[in-house]
Amino acid sequence: MPRTLTGIQPSGTLHIGNYFGAMRPAIDAQSHGECFYFIADYHSMTSLLDPQQRRRNTLDVALDWLACGLDPKRSVFWRQSDVPEVAELMWIIGTLTPMGLLERAHSYKDKTARGISPNFGLFAYPVLMAADILLYDTTVVPVGKDQKQHLEMTRDIAIKFNQTYGETFVVPESEIREDVAVVPGLDGQKMSKSYGNTIDLFGGEKATRKKIMGIVMDSRTPQEPKPDADRNLAIQLLRLVAAKEVAAEAENRLREGGYGYGDLKKLLFEQTWEHFAPYRARRAEFAANLDHVQAILRDGAEKARGTASAVLARARLASGLG
Ligand code: ADP
Ligand code: TRP
Repeated sequence: MPRTLTGIQPSGTLHIGNYFGAMRPAIDAQSHGECFYFIADYHSMTSLLDPQQRRRNTLDVALDWLACGLDPKRSVFWRQSDVPEVAELMWIIGTLTPMGLLERAHSYKDKTARGISPNFGLFAYPVLMAADILLYDTTVVPVGKDQKQHLEMTRDIAIKFNQTYGETFVVPESEIREDVAVVPGLDGQKMSKSYGNTIDLFGGEKATRKKIMGIVMDSRTPQEPKPDADRNLAIQLLRLVAAKEVAAEAENRLREGGYGYGDLKKLLFEQTWEHFAPYRARRAEFAANLDHVQAILRDGAEKARGTASAVLARARLASGLG
């Protein structure tokens, strides 16, 4: 039986790239196998230093997951730092992680290139992520393409541990859906919290409309046929949020000519807004009962801890600790 696990950092507001890349496949997995989902608050410490903000974001990410269909009866859902065993496992596997492997990490290189001053936590980020995954005997990890290398590192670390100390860890697979591997942002680059190019999952109506209507396109007139319609940014996003026929019709109209970008963007806004309407309603219900949300996380932490301590005990025994 597959065991699916994924985590999202509470480092900012979640966007539709997070949803299509990581959350939706995770939520779909609830129909087959066991599911373990967590809020990566330890990881968020590598980029966010405001404690109040971290608390607020953590609660927001919890609401976002529950709104989008995470079902606490079918999934174990917790806050990463409520299971501190992960930090011990990080140390244990850290001693088997070659420096060269960490030095080659794209995400570390990208972040430092963007001016984030590197600290040990940022450098060790992939080791903590490997510990997250290995601590729960995970078989499948749904993520966007940007996390592919981290998954490969996790596999390398698990294999090395098993070779050194005997079969201990399950070697996980990543699940990267080709159609949503990289959801483009408003500027055509990868949609990311750090690039300011997001469509927020639960942004207000006015702000969302403004962002979508502000997408910059080329200067061709509405009349001109657009043979490259399939590469149009709004069409790509429409394919995610709208029914297949709706997206296909818009693409054809654009290709033929006589369909303006303004109308296309208006359609994209409407379809986006509608797509997430049921989730918005559910989010409001959970937001009105935050004690319930905290109780879900506490209960999840307890369950997660049960699995985590058994796996950690196995790793300690294998490596001669205690
Ligand atoms: P961000 O880049 O906005 O900071 P995170 O790194 O917190 O996003 O990503 C959380 C999850 O969402 C990861 O699994 C990541 O791969 C996925 N994800 C983020 N952005 C995208 C995107 N544009 N397309 C597909 N998946 C994405
Ligand atoms: N690094 C992931 C991201 O930024 C978040 C994360 C932390 C994660 N631990 C994980 C994802 C374990 C999957 C599995 O998106």
